[in-house]
Amino acid sequence: MAYQFDHIIDRRRTGSVKWDFIERGAGHEYEYKPVTGALPEEASRLPLWVADMDFASPQPVIDALTARAQHGVFGYSKAPDSYYETIVNWMQRRHNWSVKSDWILTTPGVVPAINYIIQTFTQPGEGVIIQTPVYHPFYSSIENNERRVVRNPLLVQDGRYEIDFDDLAAKAAAPDTTLIVLCSPHNPIGRVWTSAELQRIAAICAENDVLIVSDEIHHDLVYSWANFTSFGVACPDAMDRTIICTAPSKTFNLPGLKTANAIIPNPELRAAISATMLRNGVFGVSVFGLLALETAYAAGEPWLDALLPYIEDNYRFLEQFFAEQLPSVRVTKPEATYLVWLDFRDWGLDADSLNALLLHEAGVYLNNGTVFGEAGAGFMRINIACSRSTLAEALQRIRQVAP
Ligand SMILES: Cc1ncc(COP(=O)(O)O)c(C=O)c1O
Repeated sequence: MAYQFDHIIDRRRTGSVKWDFIERGAGHEYEYKPVTGALPEEASRLPLWVADMDFASPQPVIDALTARAQHGVFGYSKAPDSYYETIVNWMQRRHNWSVKSDWILTTPGVVPAINYIIQTFTQPGEGVIIQTPVYHPFYSSIENNERRVVRNPLLVQDGRYEIDFDDLAAKAAAPDTTLIVLCSPHNPIGRVWTSAELQRIAAICAENDVLIVSDEIHHDLVYSWANFTSFGVACPDAMDRTIICTAPSKTFNLPGLKTANAIIPNPELRAAISATMLRNGVFGVSVFGLLALETAYAAGEPWLDALLPYIEDNYRFLEQFFAEQLPSVRVTKPEATYLVWLDFRDWGLDADSLNALLLHEAGVYLNNGTVFGEAGAGFMRINIACSRSTLAEALQRIRQVAP
């Protein structure tokens, strides 16, 4: 079966954040940095920012949703046993991780889950560790709940990001630091943490009684030169203090359906998070979200196995482009995710000027690196989950405005 990743689908005027809301700028809700100056003509804007794909989801998902829409009745729904079984099978098949159905708590998203976890297990004023630069809603989830962001900045060695374990141990030792939120694989720098790295984190957290959240939403999107290991596989002894967040939303391009899962082996932690969700009036699942998840995990694998080489070829195309045509931009080779961390520091521009140049002169909109933390100054995150021709056009335009 042929997959049409080269086919361009017009996403404009569909309420797409990526295509229709550039003027709000990158950032998370309360911290949107509106774009200054007139936007380029709609027809000439190329947005390669928000982490969703420009591709249609697998055909079995589209067919199942279409048939369900035809049914016409969209009453309250609850996940059936088969929903949990498809998740269990997926984790076993793709990640060699044995999960039990009753560990799974369905949430309206990974970011909501992180917020419920912060509200449940930490007190206002307490510290939550994140490994920066990192996915920006980690900051807002901590700060909106009046907890403190404790940064464990990643170290960079020859363009490769590593964990600073000495700094992590020192930060975890503070008595009012009670939680760490891991990004595994890591957005935006693309690292896949090794088992050894995860085990060192687990040991530091055990020593200092720190609870662990492992956000594994990008776990299926791994390049052929890397191997992903779930925290659940690497650190079985840490499962009493660990919550693993997953979703099919990055894998199958379903984030607008707002369905994710927290996998929580410890029944006490699970009950406590459920209670927080209930206090917020959050229960039940979206009719379309649960059907899409089940169908994608049950029948979406051939599509995913075709998608991964396409994204990998997009990455190789980008890598070669910068190496040969624009070496002033350095590429951080990702091990996972369709997001690539680009170093524009040789251009000598501050973050806002760089953003403005790319948007107003090139019509290309990327995520400004500073959104992910101070260390992102001079960097941009590009989303390569688009057709090859869109990517090629964006790269050409970036080259044309290079100083
Ligand atoms: C690391 C990470 N976690 C969570 C999310 C979003 O999760 P959700 O849409 O399920 O809240 C993203 C989206 O980009 C992400 O990159």
